[in-house]
Amino acid sequence: MQVSVRLVEPGEYSLLARIGRETFYETWKDYNTPEDMQTYLLDAFDEEKIKKDLENRDVNTFLFVFANEEPVGYAKIRRDRTYDEFKDAKVIEVERIYIYQAFQKQQAGKALMEESLRIANAEKNEWIWLGVNIDNHKAINFYKAYGFEIFGSKMFKLGDAEDEDYLMKLKLH
Ligand SMILES: CC(C)(COP(=O)(O)OP(=O)(O)OC[C@H]1O[C@@H](n2cnc3c(N)ncnc32)[C@H](O)[C@@H]1OP(=O)(O)O)[C@@H](O)C(=O)NCCC(=O)NCCS
Repeated sequence: MQVSVRLVEPGEYSLLARIGRETFYETWKDYNTPEDMQTYLLDAFDEEKIKKDLENRDVNTFLFVFANEEPVGYAKIRRDRTYDEFKDAKVIEVERIYIYQAFQKQQAGKALMEESLRIANAEKNEWIWLGVNIDNHKAINFYKAYGFEIFGSKMFKLGDAEDEDYLMKLKLH
């Protein structure tokens, strides 16, 4: 499989919203009620919202990953959130990294992570951090493989259900 990564173009908000919606649904459908899931999908992947997020380029960077020219996942990097843990250090967040199930374990996630780390380093961040559901062992192990360590946790709300995310961090060079 030929894997490549590039920035999402501003005009690609519709495709980005669709991939965001579909990969989120695939990942979490068995853990939430259909009502909660529907409400979340409509809100989080609303096309106008995604378009605004894409246009807010100082804060957000979106990456697509392609397998043989077909988009199979994406990542969202953001620069507007931090934790006391990092004091005044410059930090960056990987808010989302999602690959369609049919294309997982074929180095697409790796390609997104490597590009995210390249960007984080190029912008001279001291830390990169993320939140991940405490039961999402696949993703936790994926992040650990890059050296991310757990430094705390936070609550995450999807509809009426409350869930817990680990916070993970990696020191950059
Ligand atoms: C987590 C996720 C992004 C990983 O992407 P992927 O394309 O399946 O992973 P890759 O094939 O690129 O794996 C790259 C490397 O990461 C490591 N890795 C990947 N999955 C791993 C796992 N489950 N356990 C341990 N290491 C893992 C391996 O070192 C692997 O390298 P190798 O193939 O040379 O052994 C993907 O599984 C996914 O999209 N999951 C659903 C969405 C999700 O949960 N996202 C995270 C939300 S916070």
